[in-house]
Amino acid sequence: MAKTQRRILATSALPYANGSIHLGHLVEYIQTDLWVRFQKMRGHKAYYVCADDAHGTPIMLHAQQQGIPPEELIEQVGEEHRRDFAGFSIEFDNYYTTHSLENRELANLIYQRNRDRGHITTRTITQAYDPQKNMFLPDRFIKGECPRCAAADQYGDSCEVCGATYSPTDLKNAYSVLSGSKPIERESLHYFFELGAFETSLREWTSGGALQQEVIHKLAEWFDAGLRQWDISRDSPYFGFEIPDAPGKYFYVWLDAPIGYMASFKDLCNRNGIDFDEYWGRDSTAELYHFIGKDIVYFHTLFWPAMLEGAGFRKPTAVFAHGFLTVNGQKMSKSRGTFIKARTYLDHLDPEYLRYYFAAKLGNHIDDIDLNLDDFTQRVNADLVGKVVNIASRCAGFIKKRFAGQLAATCSEPELYSDFAAARQTIAAHYEAREFGHAIREIMALADRANQYIDVKKPWVLAKETSREDELQAVCSVGLNLFRVLMTYLKPVLPSMAEKAEAFLNIAPLAWHHVVEPLTAHRIHAFKPLMRRIERDKVEAMVKDSKQTTSDQSAIPSGDNATNTQLSKDPISATIDYNDFAKVDLRVARIVKADHVEGADKLLRLTLDLGGETRNVFAGIKSAYTPDSLEGRLTIMVANLAPRKMRFGLSEGMVLAAGPGDDDLWVLSPDTGAQPGMRVK
Ligand code: MSP
Ligand code: ZN
Repeated sequence: MAKTQRRILATSALPYANGSIHLGHLVEYIQTDLWVRFQKMRGHKAYYVCADDAHGTPIMLHAQQQGIPPEELIEQVGEEHRRDFAGFSIEFDNYYTTHSLENRELANLIYQRNRDRGHITTRTITQAYDPQKNMFLPDRFIKGECPRCAAADQYGDSCEVCGATYSPTDLKNAYSVLSGSKPIERESLHYFFELGAFETSLREWTSGGALQQEVIHKLAEWFDAGLRQWDISRDSPYFGFEIPDAPGKYFYVWLDAPIGYMASFKDLCNRNGIDFDEYWGRDSTAELYHFIGKDIVYFHTLFWPAMLEGAGFRKPTAVFAHGFLTVNGQKMSKSRGTFIKARTYLDHLDPEYLRYYFAAKLGNHIDDIDLNLDDFTQRVNADLVGKVVNIASRCAGFIKKRFAGQLAATCSEPELYSDFAAARQTIAAHYEAREFGHAIREIMALADRANQYIDVKKPWVLAKETSREDELQAVCSVGLNLFRVLMTYLKPVLPSMAEKAEAFLNIAPLAWHHVVEPLTAHRIHAFKPLMRRIERDKVEAMVKDSKQTTSDQSAIPSGDNATNTQLSKDPISATIDYNDFAKVDLRVARIVKADHVEGADKLLRLTLDLGGETRNVFAGIKSAYTPDSLEGRLTIMVANLAPRKMRFGLSEGMVLAAGPGDDDLWVLSPDTGAQPGMRVK
């Protein structure tokens, strides 16, 4: 049966050890898990390793804020992450931490080898420094006014209103988000990884089948822009590994994070006697795959393979990038209750619902995927409860009661059965290619056929005629056999339900090739409900529990690659005279049209009617509103704001909205009866 056994090592990106796992993360861990489970079911040797990403400034500051050492924080968070993953049946072969001895040794080794080959250089740079906190400030810890559009409270690297990118020194009225003080400039010696030296081999590797088309396109842009040196050092205070030959300097978190994949595997090797070099050595013939989100492609397709090459290790076989999760069509939002933590979900719902829904929606592209909570409820109920479980529940009772649990001695529908068994090839090809949605579609088409078979044969009618006992047993045995095949195909997605099905069918754990032969002359156990329907009020309760006010959030940006919305609570500004206020001409306006703006992630173009006069205004509300939901409604605008030329056109005013961040805000509306053009006083 088994063709040559493959040796596979798969990883998911390492979650930061300073926040909870949420449903967005789970898009990644669930897909990696079901892919690896599939490989294992096919008889391959497959390992799935991961770890907490424990280093960096945000983690150091979060620990300070809680008054505990960072080691204690990462310990606590690590525990929480493990529990959450286990709750979703994410079956890691090892879950480790980047703050480990193995990782320190491997990071040093990879650094030293690269250094000895001349790939590390040093140079003094000038950086923003917080004189009160006595530390250098990463770009995201500095805020100020955008140098292009003057929007207030923009981060040091880019403007979320107009999309401009710049360096923190360009900000006007800059301040440190940690202390509020004005950053000063200070010099420091930094260590750089010479990425440019790897251009030829990176071009070769990236075009050699390791990457998705969309990623290849993105890389073409990066190659065109030129591969720049990468700053791999950070000054003390920093939570991380000190650079061996540079006291007081630390490896930037993103240097030792991917090495954490190796370190986690190394720990597994040490405990289980696996040969580390067979997977990581330069001449390894094992397969190595990294599942990652689209936000960290640069790190995994340029820096990481270059570092590996520079240190004499093999490069990944492939990097599989996926898109981001939206909930009900919008970015996850704390105030809408759609920023749902793994734990909150588990408090209300069965994890297998989500595993199934994600599988049904996932493909091998980097498009974002949407969790629409109504569709989720309806689809899981219709497919899993209505179709799959239904097959078993329609047949099991008769076999148990009328035939003492005994299945028929032969399969009375060999053709139907062999169609089901033959589908394993196509379904396996879909799983292999990470076209999970296609696999699910095939499986559900088979489930429909099984139900049609039962509809036609009507076992409940046969059961009334004593002369047709054999037929009844034959039909129900076929039904249960078809169910068994479906459960085999669904097992990577629904491991707990498959386990319950194995117990009920009284069979050994299902492996992929078991479907070749039907179960005959076999005694099954009593049927127990395998899955309950999703109840709408449970979903609502989960959303309610996820609603959060802004006051308990921290001002510290959460990760080194995170695109954060503003998390700090806005203090009330200094008082102004009435005369100053009176200068602001606020008017009621009707939004007659709202459109997407090509190339702007955050903006919508609004056409406003001011009672006869029409204005064109760009508003940074795209992540909070769809254009449809705005058209026709009244709002309040600043009518005498000086027109501003933006990259997308002229903005003639400003629409007012309230909220903690740009995906969490509400456009203001006047009470009913107000008319466009009226002045707000
Ligand atoms: N620590 C880095 C990864 C280091 S890998 C050597 C990191 N951590 S993270 O916690 O921010 O994200 C972990 C993974 O989850 C990333 O692949 C990221 O893309 C993914 N996701 C985080 N939020 C997500 C969504 N909302 N939707 C889909 N995936 C998301 O990045
Ligand atoms: Zn701007």
